[in-house]
Amino acid sequence: MSYLEITWTDDETGIRGYVVIDRLSRGVAGGGLRMRKGVTLDEVRDLARGMTLKDPVLWREGDRYVPFGGAKGGIDCDPYDPRAREVLGRWARAMKPLLDTCFATGEDFGVRQDVLDEVLEQNGLEPSAHAGYALVPDGEAAAKHREHVAWNVDVDGVPLPELVGGYGVAEAALAALEHRGIPAAEARAVVQGFGSMGGAAARYLARAGVRVVGIADRAGLLHNPDGLDVETLLLTRDAFGVMDRATLRPGDVELPREDWLALDADVLVPAAMSYVITADDVDRIRASIVVEAANVATLVDAEEELRRRGTVVVPDFVANCGTNQWWWWVVFGDVEPTAESAFTTLSSRMRPVVHRILERADAEGVSPRTAATEVSHDIRAALDARYPRLADLPAGAGAATMEA
Ligand SMILES: NC(=O)c1ccc[n+]([C@@H]2O[C@H](COP(=O)([O-])OP(=O)(O)OC[C@H]3O[C@@H](n4cnc5c(N)ncnc54)[C@H](O)[C@@H]3O)[C@@H](O)[C@H]2O)c1
Repeated sequence: MSYLEITWTDDETGIRGYVVIDRLSRGVAGGGLRMRKGVTLDEVRDLARGMTLKDPVLWREGDRYVPFGGAKGGIDCDPYDPRAREVLGRWARAMKPLLDTCFATGEDFGVRQDVLDEVLEQNGLEPSAHAGYALVPDGEAAAKHREHVAWNVDVDGVPLPELVGGYGVAEAALAALEHRGIPAAEARAVVQGFGSMGGAAARYLARAGVRVVGIADRAGLLHNPDGLDVETLLLTRDAFGVMDRATLRPGDVELPREDWLALDADVLVPAAMSYVITADDVDRIRASIVVEAANVATLVDAEEELRRRGTVVVPDFVANCGTNQWWWWVVFGDVEPTAESAFTTLSSRMRPVVHRILERADAEGVSPRTAATEVSHDIRAALDARYPRLADLPAGAGAATMEA
């Protein structure tokens, strides 16, 4: 049961919005705000629960950032609706008591951070992550300074904040390859989606020696069994993460985008939408490793069937946790606001965690998702025992559902 669920109705448009706080830790829960026509309380609840699982996964002894609880916001509105910005402002004003005290939010699907920042300021509200900044040991100003510096780091033409999530996905994939005994130099990968997550995952897999033999974007699938030129393709993307086909090399071929999961490869990285691997797709999949950059990329029955056939699925809340983790590490001062510090820290944590999860899954005969959930719960339990304030408001205690 969630700790708190709010359904809000906009007086002026009748549009609904939601906040779900799955649980609080040290009195705070973190998670993005999503704006999408058709978003439901159920979806927001699932995402909030996912944040609770995701936050502890890479925690280490001595970190200043001690994982918060999970939360999520949602507004059932098309982000391109001309009323979207005003609705966002009214939602934020209604949620002020939470934003001021216990709900640290930020961008998610359909909501850009710069737009959120502007709307909050215009409505006289604190920055979106204010509730989290309040716990930073050296204060909000220092946190914002680190954040500002980190946000402006450019790595070979791509801003660092757009790279860390996909870098973490690549590290998760490389650990899964190690676990399977497949050397990176002999491995082939296919990436679906070539935006922030897919683009960076492809870049860092290629830099580790993996041949990226397929990349799908909104316009189709590019395939080359000898490997695509990832660096060149990255620089040709438009604002929708679509590659310029004019730069293709001899040997690159264009295929229907649905064929991405049937290419002959060792690793599949779904990095576009949710629910892209269904039970009907399993027969077509040749890869022995799936690494979920997108949330809920694999449906439950498909994941079970893949497991039966010996294909490992590294779950979303582990593989794609890099962006969220890195951002809190920067804010709390656990990493320097540099690319080197970001990459070194992520790599040194993601690889052992993925090994631990896959070894535990093998030993217990359970799925990597089940093993990862146990790992996350174990860390939460250890933290709750260590920091009594973490246990003040455990999940379910005093659970409430409100209509605002
Ligand atoms: N960005 C993050 O930090 C982050 C963190 C965790 C999870 N995620 C999840 O990862 C996924 C990708 O996020 P992103 O930020 O990289 O998005 P993005 O908007 O930057 O990129 C999306 C990519 O998917 C492609 N695409 C769209 N429709 C497609 C289709 N039908 N077939 C193939 N490709 C298609 C687009 O062309 C683009 O290349 C989302 O599900 C998101 O929720 C993102």
